[in-house]
Amino acid sequence: DKGTYPFYMLKEVDEQPNVMRKLTQTYLNGEGKPEIDDQLIKAMQAADRLYIVGAGTSYHAGLIGKRLFEKLTSMPTEVHVSSEFAYEQPLLSAKPFFIFLTQSGETADSREVLSNVNEAGYPSLTITNVENSTLSREANFTLLLHAGPEIAVASTKAYTAQIALEAILAKALGEDLGLDAAKAFDVRTQLALVANGMQAIVDEKDKLEGLSNEFLMDTNRAFYIGRGIDQAVSLEAALKLKEISYVQAEGFASGELKHGTIALIEKGTPVIGIITQAKTASLTRSNLQETIARGAKTMTIVRESLATDDDDLVLPDVDELLMPLLSVVPAQLLAYYTSLNKGLDVDKPRNLAKSVTVE
Ligand code: F6R
Repeated sequence: DKGTYPFYMLKEVDEQPNVMRKLTQTYLNGEGKPEIDDQLIKAMQAADRLYIVGAGTSYHAGLIGKRLFEKLTSMPTEVHVSSEFAYEQPLLSAKPFFIFLTQSGETADSREVLSNVNEAGYPSLTITNVENSTLSREANFTLLLHAGPEIAVASTKAYTAQIALEAILAKALGEDLGLDAAKAFDVRTQLALVANGMQAIVDEKDKLEGLSNEFLMDTNRAFYIGRGIDQAVSLEAALKLKEISYVQAEGFASGELKHGTIALIEKGTPVIGIITQAKTASLTRSNLQETIARGAKTMTIVRESLATDDDDLVLPDVDELLMPLLSVVPAQLLAYYTSLNKGLDVDKPRNLAKSVTVE
């Protein structure tokens, strides 16, 4: 039931702070230590490489997971689009462990990969929002997202839940391996900060609607740019805008723009920079300047400690690895308002189904 909300998507965006709290309560004990099935931890530790597989938004959550697993567990981690992996399997390591990310647990492309993985006898985990879904039943282990039903076709709370659960799992694994990076990562405190930060962003709806009006209502093209983990979020930000507002949006590595794609920038083309990583902040800022010189109209989404008075949206500071949980929220709302004010069906965009059960 969407209650007083005009669309499920807005309700689901607003639920994200509570989903963060629910995951904390479910998977962390009173001291903030992860409580994850020991057999799962052992199975993952026995592997020499993690393979994350997913489609669409779930694939994008995997791109963040790669950073979390590599930083906190030192395990090499690859991320793959399921429809590609199914028919062009990369050379695998000697002891692979597979992680399937899927909100619905029913995506045919991902099921095809899991059936190949099972045939080869490799161990697997499904991270899903739907208990007893096919991908959950067919994998060796399951972790549930506890995000509550996601009805809008555009995935929002499942993306942030997947990232938060990957963070908890990486913490559990890394701590068990005795790694300092994992010990120092206080996931409980950080997720509490994330929940509060998300709340602060969803409380700025009027501002986000204003930015949508200013930047996105009169264009059929837009760019999100960033580096590293911000580039990964830019892909998800662009997908949200494309699928519900039909603006052709691209998420791009900001340093790569000048190698060709910058030719698409015209007078007034919106370019939105995501800047949450200290190491690359000034580089992305100069890449934004390069687009301004070609006529772009730029907007910035920046974490507080890197922000100036000129930035458009300032995100509360949390651990750099968890900044995607905050930087994606304005992008979800920008997409929402652009779709809404174009009079489109936000929850049921054309040509799309909530769960894609054909390959
Ligand atoms: C985008 C979206 C899709 C799904 C994709 C995978 O908003 O919802 O890209 O993420 O179809 O679906 P699941 O996660 O159910 O496997």
